[in-house]
Amino acid sequence: MNEQDILNTELRWGMVAALAVAVIMVVIVGSSLGMAIHPPSHVETIDPTTLAQSGEFAERSLGTRINPDGSATVRLIATQFAFVPRCIPVPQGRPVTIRVTSPDVIHGFIIAGTNVNTMVVPGYVSEVRTVFSKAGEHLMPCHEYCGLGHSEMWSVVRVIPQSDWKNDPNGRASCEIPR
Ligand code: CUA
Repeated sequence: MNEQDILNTELRWGMVAALAVAVIMVVIVGSSLGMAIHPPSHVETIDPTTLAQSGEFAERSLGTRINPDGSATVRLIATQFAFVPRCIPVPQGRPVTIRVTSPDVIHGFIIAGTNVNTMVVPGYVSEVRTVFSKAGEHLMPCHEYCGLGHSEMWSVVRVIPQSDWKNDPNGRASCEIPR
């Protein structure tokens, strides 16, 4: 092998390596942008022993609030063995931010029929953003084994048309009879 052959061989392998890196980058960027698959970028901590006493996770602050820009923020506590509140009204077709934390053990939840799926870890606030495009009801079970009452732990998400929401600003009437 002369020097030129060695150089060509190295160049070919260099191109193979560059191609592999390019393919991996396309998969990472594509799954992140196209399928919203990426590691959590939002780490927020909270003291699980005092969260119920004051601040955004005190009992009076839980539930759905409409923000000045028309989007909604939902605050929940996941605790053995219930989500508080048990019925969650959300406006149809508007951005909804769900913020959840746990005072006891690890829980998790999925909102059936949507892309909402997260764990709830004591000491951290889990935040999920979504838009519910169709009116209707979704079951929201706990999907992280948390003790004997795990299978009884669930809430209901009610997606309410915007027109109905106007007469019932925080969606309270739609959740008057829990379950
Ligand atoms: Cu909470 Cu399972």
